[in-house]
Amino acid sequence: MVDFLPEAQALFEYTQALRRDFHRHPELGFHEVRTAGIVARELNKLGLEVTPGIAETGVLATIEGNRPGRVLLLRFDMDALPIQEQTGAPYASQNPGVMHACGHDGHTAVGLTVARLLQSHRQELPGTIKLVFQPAEEGEGGAERMLAEGILENPHADAALALHLWNEKPFGWLGVTAGPIMAAAEIIHIKVTGRGGHGAIPHLAVDPVLASAQIINALQGIVARNVSPLETAVVSVTSIHAGEAFNVIPAQASLQGTIRTFSPEVRQGVLERFQQVVEGVGKAMQCQVDCQVQSISPAVVNDGGLAGQVRTTASQLLPDCQVEANYRTMGAEDMAFILQKLPGCFFFIGSANPAEGLDAPHHHPRFDFDERGLVHATALMAGAAWDYLQT
Ligand code: NI
Repeated sequence: MVDFLPEAQALFEYTQALRRDFHRHPELGFHEVRTAGIVARELNKLGLEVTPGIAETGVLATIEGNRPGRVLLLRFDMDALPIQEQTGAPYASQNPGVMHACGHDGHTAVGLTVARLLQSHRQELPGTIKLVFQPAEEGEGGAERMLAEGILENPHADAALALHLWNEKPFGWLGVTAGPIMAAAEIIHIKVTGRGGHGAIPHLAVDPVLASAQIINALQGIVARNVSPLETAVVSVTSIHAGEAFNVIPAQASLQGTIRTFSPEVRQGVLERFQQVVEGVGKAMQCQVDCQVQSISPAVVNDGGLAGQVRTTASQLLPDCQVEANYRTMGAEDMAFILQKLPGCFFFIGSANPAEGLDAPHHHPRFDFDERGLVHATALMAGAAWDYLQT
């Protein structure tokens, strides 16, 4: 066993400098050109075989151990979000309207540091590490594109690990859970069509605004009355657009929202009821409805054995951390697509520090995290990879 914590600590300045540089220069999904260039440069410096340009801006590199063994894929996401940063940090975004508001700048920096650590121990390491720096995690299908371009083959990966810095929890907390840990996510689109008219003469119109209100209310009954209280689901309507004037009943309303579930059975049931409720209530309100469900990603499901192994590594390497084994969130992650293909573990690294004001939620314009979390992330990823290949 290598004690990766002091080694990660010794490289903290390297990790932090990279993270702050990526933070200053955030890039949206499939446009991570500068970021990917730095990733490739740093990996080249280590003497690794580097393949850029996978799924546009993805980068793949391989660390060969001293003897044949298992093949482990480590995935780090690189993309930023279309948000105007408001942190006021000295390393704040220099790209107007683009911000690393999810911590992927940290993930990329951690990935490069993990590469350095594992490469420095290459002579003691069996097997192969495939380092994957992924573009476009934020709902644009980066993982699927990389899978389509064959990242799991040549050599074939046996398992995968990935992590997320996590501001819902404080620095010092780690979340490593077996089974489903992040939700399957769908976007819902509903178009409600009535007949426009004068706001003062409603009986000659068919009002899509009232119909929308009834649909939204009725949709909340799905989780309350169709899903077992022991299961988990979310139905949220998050956007309504209809009408322009106070005295005009519009002809159309459009709604959007999201459905989140963990189990495929619950997902199927909720989607069926969604369709029935929207169509039935729309009809009762004399409107035409058109509803579309667009799948973003399946649930992220961790392998039980690997989650247990990562927890063991965590308790050995980071004894001062609190390791939670039951943490789950209804957020979504496209690592789900990779974990559909092979066993793996996606774990969370607590990164909030309320005393320092570093506790805004992910995707918030003031999102920033306690950079000491980078050390935990680096040590645990390197240690978990090491332990997986040794066993
Ligand atoms: Ni993220």
